[in-house]
Amino acid sequence: MVFLPQEVIAKKRDGEVLSKDEIAQFISGMTKGSVRPEQAAAFAMAVYFQNMELDERIALTEAMRDSGEVLDWSDFDGAILDKHSTGGVGDNVSLMLAPIWAALGAYVPMISGRGLGHTGGTLDKFDAIPGYTTSPDNALFRKVVREAGCAIIGQTADLAPADKMLYGIRDVTATVDNVSLITSSILSKKLAAGLDALVLDVKVGTGAFMRTAQDADVLAKSLVHVANGAGVKTSALITDMNEPLASAAGNALEVKNAVEFLTGAHQDMRLLDVTIELAALGLGLSGIESDMDIARNKCRAVLDNGAAAEHFGKMVSLLGGPKDFVQNYNQHLPTAPIIRDVLAEKPGTVSRIDARGVGMAVIVLGGGRTTPTDALDYSVGFDQIAPIGATLNSKTPIARIHAADENSASEAAMRLRKAYQLDGERNESELFHGLITA
Ligand code: URA
Repeated sequence: MVFLPQEVIAKKRDGEVLSKDEIAQFISGMTKGSVRPEQAAAFAMAVYFQNMELDERIALTEAMRDSGEVLDWSDFDGAILDKHSTGGVGDNVSLMLAPIWAALGAYVPMISGRGLGHTGGTLDKFDAIPGYTTSPDNALFRKVVREAGCAIIGQTADLAPADKMLYGIRDVTATVDNVSLITSSILSKKLAAGLDALVLDVKVGTGAFMRTAQDADVLAKSLVHVANGAGVKTSALITDMNEPLASAAGNALEVKNAVEFLTGAHQDMRLLDVTIELAALGLGLSGIESDMDIARNKCRAVLDNGAAAEHFGKMVSLLGGPKDFVQNYNQHLPTAPIIRDVLAEKPGTVSRIDARGVGMAVIVLGGGRTTPTDALDYSVGFDQIAPIGATLNSKTPIARIHAADENSASEAAMRLRKAYQLDGERNESELFHGLITA
């Protein structure tokens, strides 16, 4: 039968369930050019209003995964493991998690993204490291995964190109915000990386895209059920994003925070807890260690004995960064000309943080984008960020600001003060809101 895209659109528009074949033909038509962009836009809007059942979401994910290359690691002797976070502020977990897993025998080909809205992106953090390439050719990518155990790089044009097209269309047609579409978009890229197991960190709170526990739960369940349905062992942790996770926000500052975490020079407690929990979960899913307590201890051990730091250093150097980066990161990372404390207007105890506001202040400093083509200043941001419960006074600031000039410093300081509420009702919530398994 001749395939007519408008029939698929009409069927979804009318609330019917699409077959696997219809979805596959529609998505492959997008990359071949037989489905026009305006038809893809109408399809996205139909899904936005009518949603998709689990089988349809799996079919959409698989079709977008198969629209390009699917990486094959069958010549690697070990589990292929990865993590995805739905995004937050001061969320540099990937920088520690990948080398922890690598030190425990997993292979981590981590395809990461750039910052989205107020949230930071892993790739932007690595771009702060001089010489590091986030777009190696395939041969170098495989070599780094083999030799360092992990390689954190950007999406290539060959991975899930249908998602790239559909996401671009959704972005300008008000159809991003739909769980079926978000699920297939995130997972198509991750599944194209040829994973055995995937750990998801679904963030909830003032600095997350999901503001309520209920929304986070719906997204986490959708992601876990679709990923498992598409053959990748996947679990999700729902974690708190009512305050920045690390005490640093901004690209070079988060890299510095990550290196100090890996070497044990400085570890933020909430960041440590989330990293260990996600790492242990991944060891369980990939069959490396099924006892969660033993798994957590193994993860702590490779931090304590320096093995994780060593894998990180090897990855950085193989991807073109400095050979002595872990030892001498301060000499290599860019620094801002203005560094000073941002004090609260009056002394008090931090009761609530608008973490999104902190992320927006980083954008004002030039550390994040307002349009996709914006160039970044990697040196700017905040460190020594005070957590909820901290007592602030004339000696203890809200944070230390790193800025390129006086104008951006004063606007970002103003925004930071606004994001902090003192002496009100404490918005202190559990770090872990839930675990979703298949
Ligand atoms: N991130 C993605 O990759 N896709 C979405 O649809 C939303 C967030």
